[in-house]
Amino acid sequence: MTRPNLAVNLGGLQMKNPVTTASGCFGFGPEYAPYIDLNRLGAIVVKGTTLEPRLGNPGVRIVETPAGILNSIGLQNPGVDHFISKALPYLKEYDTPVVVNIAGNTLEDYAELAKRLTAADGVAALEVNISCPNVKKGGMVFGTDCFMAAEVIRTVKQHTTLPVIAKLSPNVTNIVEIAQGVAEAGADALALINTLLGMAIDIHTRKPVLGNTMGGLSGPAIRPVAVRIIWQVAQAVNLPILGMGGIMSGEDAIEFILAGATAVAVGTANFVNPRATMDVLEGIEQYMEKYGVKDINELVGAAWK
Ligand SMILES: Cc1cc2nc3c(=O)[nH]c(=O)nc-3n(C[C@H](O)[C@H](O)[C@H](O)COP(=O)(O)O)c2cc1C
Repeated sequence: MTRPNLAVNLGGLQMKNPVTTASGCFGFGPEYAPYIDLNRLGAIVVKGTTLEPRLGNPGVRIVETPAGILNSIGLQNPGVDHFISKALPYLKEYDTPVVVNIAGNTLEDYAELAKRLTAADGVAALEVNISCPNVKKGGMVFGTDCFMAAEVIRTVKQHTTLPVIAKLSPNVTNIVEIAQGVAEAGADALALINTLLGMAIDIHTRKPVLGNTMGGLSGPAIRPVAVRIIWQVAQAVNLPILGMGGIMSGEDAIEFILAGATAVAVGTANFVNPRATMDVLEGIEQYMEKYGVKDINELVGAAWK
């Protein structure tokens, strides 16, 4: 019996299977190597990387909610040069494409990040974060303005030959418009969705729990929102989608693929179960076997085709 095909192409990023990690939920990789074989991932999307090192926001930075977490990490990271010299050599040892999630305060930051990461040997694609809700400058400000979102993608495209994945914010009135804007600006794929803006208040101190007052909600609570957004965008914009938002199992991933995602990223689930990516991959394989699906690509958008 021939094995079913799991390989997908995400806007030029060739993946042996559709399962990746969501940025910020898998560090730079080594943190999870004791639990899973990193070679089995379709791609590794690393922690958001900025030009200069960042300490992130003051604590409290994570709050548990009934069906997910609120975070306000604020893009803590050691900076792009540290990533290239220290983290990339480790990741290059694996047979898994490395996608770097980049974030900046200005268009020039994005241009410089794109230049340096393209010149560094071992980066397979750039995921452009124009959707972080936890930083004052850049971040979501770019992603909620159609013109600015397109400008960031245009700038990154001018400074790289790598596939460019635009990661969009759900915290907008009309995400389809933003997706169309970045598609026209040359994005090769879309990553949907980043976290939903939320907050929690401690009723005893009567103060917001997060040090930054508001944070991003992730996990199963946001899954129906993510599925709805992928459904809407996939039908309006002709770009492959990396779907994420509360994926905990293979069944969840299949739901995203049926809605129109070509690949899926596992985020918050990694904090609960460090083997979550492997469970998702094995769950996809089991579903394909159960329903006799020969090629995963047959399922992409099958719910609306
Ligand atoms: C602790 C934490 C840190 C995150 N850091 C980033 C980041 O650096 N860049 C980014 O684009 N998204 C970041 N995200 C968003 C995730 O990549 C993902 O879009 C979101 O959490 C939804 O997926 P999930 O529900 O599976 O976690 C972060 C999420 C969490 C929970």
